[in-house]
Amino acid sequence: MKTGISSIGIKLPSRYLDVRELATLRSVDPNKFTKGLGCHQIALCGDHEDAVSLGAGAAERALEAWGGRREDLGLIAVGTETAADMSRPLSAFIAEKLELSGALRSYEVKHACYGGTLALRQALEWHASGAAAGKSALVIASDVSLYAPKDPGEPTQGAGAVAMVIGAPTVAEIDIATTSWSEPVFDFWRPVGEAHPRVDGPLSLDCYKRGAWETTRARFGDDLAGLDELHALCFHTPFPKMVKKAVRFIGEQAGWDEAKASSFFEAKVEPSMRWNRQVGNSYTASLWIAVADVLSRAPSGARIGAYSYGSGFGAELLTMTATGAAPTWAAPFEQDALTRAAMDQSSYETWRVKTTHA
Ligand code: CAA
Repeated sequence: MKTGISSIGIKLPSRYLDVRELATLRSVDPNKFTKGLGCHQIALCGDHEDAVSLGAGAAERALEAWGGRREDLGLIAVGTETAADMSRPLSAFIAEKLELSGALRSYEVKHACYGGTLALRQALEWHASGAAAGKSALVIASDVSLYAPKDPGEPTQGAGAVAMVIGAPTVAEIDIATTSWSEPVFDFWRPVGEAHPRVDGPLSLDCYKRGAWETTRARFGDDLAGLDELHALCFHTPFPKMVKKAVRFIGEQAGWDEAKASSFFEAKVEPSMRWNRQVGNSYTASLWIAVADVLSRAPSGARIGAYSYGSGFGAELLTMTATGAAPTWAAPFEQDALTRAAMDQSSYETWRVKTTHA
């Protein structure tokens, strides 16, 4: 059975901070954040926004674009690392807002930034197996990423949500075959009760690169033959420089010279981070924002790769084919990005004092 993405909805919060404002506030050369890390803007929540409202907002947009009946949904799965409760799934908070109840399975998936992809894979496999009995799934990836004030990760913060209806592949057909890799490590984690994550930055970069290589070589072979045929290769984007380093690393493993790695990055990867640069790191939503951006411009038949990474760590490479639907999700994204309020150094400082927890 052909299965994939039937519709997409994205929701951004109502505020943002330019990383150059943050650099001035922290007495850092702005080039470190813009050129050194590749960051531009950080999406930030307003007073009544959080992972639940963002997830529900994205879901409303995806459901409207899908146009199906609520009774035709058999599953709602939410990937997040911004849990609202240790027991009650974020899907219940979101389903409450959407008034979704009845004959459907509802749950939360946690695996750091990989949780949204796992929720999507479960929905895809559920649909393809026939267990869905003709119903579709609502998959949501929603997160608020905040580091402690003055943490080196502060310029890589962000927030946002992506929702996708999974069923008939009117937007993209996702291949059932996939390649994954995992290793139990502590590279990025947030102990129970702590407001901000702890990070071993160099270890997280090593694991991210290794996951990218292992999943890509398993799919395309040690020489990465066929990778060039992709229209685009999207990545989970904690910050754009990290993605560039991963591409250089997989190129080195495959024996590419620097020019080849650089031209592959510029042609197939860099254009997919256009929306990520306006959002910052949105954890589970990050990869799917890149995929949505690429799908909004891809011709029908374009082959797209999607590399998912979640600390802890788990990695997976998915491949899909664009099926040419009108990009209903692009205008609302651009509208959110245009209408949100810019914060300055002083309003950000005040906001940080009030906002201690993601
Ligand atoms: N002009 C231009 N470039 C400059 C500069 C300047 N004035 N000053 C510094 N730079 C460059 C540096 O040379 C460096 O570039 P290279 O890496 O290419 O050498 C870059 O800016 C960063 O500089 P530092 O390494 O000194 O930065 P730092 O020590 O302040 O660390 C950080 C910043 C890398 C973001 C670090 O905080 C970090 O590792 N954060 C978290 C890591 C992370 O997000 N991991 C993601 C994997 S985990 C996951 O996936 C979950 C998730 O999404 C978070």
